[in-house]
Amino acid sequence: MQGKSYDHIARVYDILDLPFENSRYRPLRRILFRDLEGDLLDAGVGTGRNFPFYPENARVTGIDLSPAMLERARQRREKLAVAVELQQMNVMKMEFADDSFDSIVSTFLFCVLDAECQQPALEELRRVCRPNGTIHILEYVFSKNPLRRFIMKLWQPWVRFAYGAAFDRDTEQYLEAAGLDLLEEKFLYKDIIKLLSLRPKRASAT
Ligand SMILES: C[S@@+](CC[C@H](N)C(=O)[O-])C[C@H]1O[C@@H](n2cnc3c(N)ncnc32)[C@H](O)[C@@H]1O
Repeated sequence: MQGKSYDHIARVYDILDLPFENSRYRPLRRILFRDLEGDLLDAGVGTGRNFPFYPENARVTGIDLSPAMLERARQRREKLAVAVELQQMNVMKMEFADDSFDSIVSTFLFCVLDAECQQPALEELRRVCRPNGTIHILEYVFSKNPLRRFIMKLWQPWVRFAYGAAFDRDTEQYLEAAGLDLLEEKFLYKDIIKLLSLRPKRASAT
């Protein structure tokens, strides 16, 4: 899945997600953007749920594959008077020049991307990120707690149907091949929502 089906869900996306947005995601979004500045990319911007948390001194661009999700994001941009440029673009083939951004944030995009899309998407993030830049990826993963894992398994068919998402993506396994260093990996909500902090690998001086 590359995101096209979000056109169908865009109208109800915010309503479906509202209980999780209110109870889980808001504090995590705040943490993600805390220390970021400069040219910032929000990859898979969706309906613009990250807008309230963009740092004041950042110049933000948001991209998404789905025109309908972007339309929602435009409405939210108006409502919140947020300075963000929105563009329709595939994260696997972005139109930005190399080294365009100081920081990149991607919330709940990689759990939507199928296995074969993970590395190309990561390679693109690396390409457009400046050498000392930071990439934050926030994702769901299956819990190791048996009860929580069982509940997530029950949810999985719905999550697959509604969002084209899965809890079993293994984004870390593609980092090395994509030329990214893992700076930090930590859970921000129980053991199911994980933050990966990444940086483009440095060319070795030989
Ligand atoms: C689960 S939503 C998350 C939206 C938002 N980041 C948030 O935190 O609420 C995933 C978003 O990724 C977008 N998407 C999926 N595949 C994409 C791709 N290949 N390139 C760009 N955006 C994509 C979808 O259209 C959707 O808006």
